[in-house]
Formats: sequence, C-alpha cells, structure tokens
Amino acid sequence: MSFDNAIAALSIDALKFVKDGQVIGLGSGRAATAFVKSLSTFLKKKKINVRCIPTSLQIKLTAEQGGIKLIEADQVDIVDIVFDGADQIDVEKNMIKGGGGALLRENILISAAKKVVIMADKSKFVKKLDRAVPVEVHPSARNTATKSIKKVGGKPIIRTIERGYPFVTENGNIILDCDFGTISKPQQLAQKIKQMPGVLEVGIFSRKPDVIYRANTDGKFEIIT
Ligand code: A5P
Repeated sequence: MSFDNAIAALSIDALKFVKDGQVIGLGSGRAATAFVKSLSTFLKKKKINVRCIPTSLQIKLTAEQGGIKLIEADQVDIVDIVFDGADQIDVEKNMIKGGGGALLRENILISAAKKVVIMADKSKFVKKLDRAVPVEVHPSARNTATKSIKKVGGKPIIRTIERGYPFVTENGNIILDCDFGTISKPQQLAQKIKQMPGVLEVGIFSRKPDVIYRANTDGKFEIIT
C-alpha cells in the first residue's frame, strides 16, 4: 500500500512538467495509470490543452475514462514529453521495459520525446540489469529468433497467459522473454538482438530517461538525477 501511496504522490509531483499545448506520450502499466489519473484531475482544473498518445489499449481506456484528449502516434513527428514506468533500471539509467507487452509503442514515443519521465518503485532499481529482456518477434520468426537469441547467450521463453495461450501484442506479435543473467553491456546486447530478422523491438531502450522518480516503501518518493 505504501508503494501505491508513493506512486500516487509522485504522479502528482510529475504534473509540474505538463505545459499548455504539449503532445504527451502515455506509457502503460501501474505507474503510468497513476499518472494518467492525476493528469485527468489536473486538466479538468487547469485551463490548459494537451494532446496525449497512448501506448496501449490499457492506458487508452484509462485516459478515455479521464476525459483526456487522445491522438495516435502517427499524427505527430515529435513528442514533447513521455511519462512511463519501467521494469528495471540500472545505475547507468539503462532500462528494461515491456513487462506489459507495450514495448514497441513505448519505444517509438520515448525515442521521439524531448523529455522522458520514468516512475518506478524501489524494487526496480538495480546495479546491473538482470531480469529477462522482453523481445517482440513476428510470429513467423519464432524459431529463428529463438535460435539467434540463444547464440548471443540468452534463454528465450515464449510469453504465455492463462492456460498456456501465447501472449499476442497489440501489433499481432509474440514476446520472447529472454534471460541473459546479469547484463554487462545492455546497449550492445540490444543492438545485436535488434538486428535479428523478425525482431520488432527489444525491451532495452537506447534513450535514457531525463527524470526518474523512485517510490519508496515508506510512501515517500525521490527524484534520481
Ligand atoms: C509496459 O509494457 C511496460 O514497459 C511498463 O512500463 C512496465 O512494465 C512498468 O509497469 P508498472 O508500472 O506496472 O510496474
């Protein structure tokens, strides 16, 4: 509960980065949801206009419920700011994302953004990345990509949902969650995987965040610079 309190509090603090006229990218997941709820309340009180781009149906539904004006990513060529969560963040600000499967759209917005604000709880912060890396793969490349990922030291497992059904992304692809143990060179690894035919996206992003919020167990938060 205290993490949730901290996430709620930091999502209100993060509103200080919201300015009139902005195009805002909305990430997916728990932290992004908390932010969207705060943003909705904020926009109803203040006389400012923003246009938001959702990275998944999950966040689109939350934003719609909050009466937030939405546009699609292909309607813009620049994004002023993105607010998103993360699955893991190392001391160099490398991130693993894609736990919810929205990595392709998240990376498109994060790569185009002038400013990236990441919000995550304390458990996500590590010295070196070591959780499984989500890799979005075209279904027809399932076996070839699996083989290629194994060649660079990964142990890929196809992501499934209840009763063993494969998880299918909103782009019609599958996710291979790839265990590489401790990752010493995240950017180099991401580049190698991205070059594999049939790989659409890798959950290690090259763009590092500008602002990182860390939610602590005592219900408070801090900003990491
Ligand atoms: C969605 O695919 C992910 O990249 C999320 O941003 C990430 O999983 C963090 O989600 P939570 O804020 O729910 O932990």
